[in-house]
Amino acid sequence: MTTEIKEEDIARLVPAFYERVRQDRVLGPIFNGAIDDWHHHLGKLQDFWSSVMLTTGRYKGQPMVAHVRHAEHMTADNFARWLALWHEVSGELLSPAAATAFQRKADRIAESLQLGVQFYRER
Ligand code: HEM
Repeated sequence: MTTEIKEEDIARLVPAFYERVRQDRVLGPIFNGAIDDWHHHLGKLQDFWSSVMLTTGRYKGQPMVAHVRHAEHMTADNFARWLALWHEVSGELLSPAAATAFQRKADRIAESLQLGVQFYRER
């Protein structure tokens, strides 16, 4: 059975997730220090998730470059914390099947971002 994901799920999940991130003791200062225009960031992240989950192609960016720019914060602990919050908020807001789909995707992207950042850092 395929899980139906809707734009509406993304429109609820993304702002709620970053709200939680901004309040996090560790991640909050990193994001609040790096992002000035939250309206713009949330729009971009909704485009990203729409491209990832619904293949709409709306996101045109380079996530690897963006994270290499903040390489000092891209630690294993911070990735684990990011993912724990993502699992928490998606689990609260979405149906179990939809939450699982978003969680699996984030787990995979986080793994490749982490490897990529490491690679760039070691060059
Ligand atoms: C952008 C931090 C994990 C997706 C950003 C930015 C920061 C950041 C500071 C803004 C970059 C800038 O504009 O200068 C982090 C931290 C993470 C993390 C600390 C965990 C340690 C993730 C994960 C995903 C993700 C796991 C996806 C599943 C994105 C995307 C952008 C972004 C799509 C926008 C990139 C662009 O400008 O096009 N992140 N991030 N991040 N992040 Fe993360």
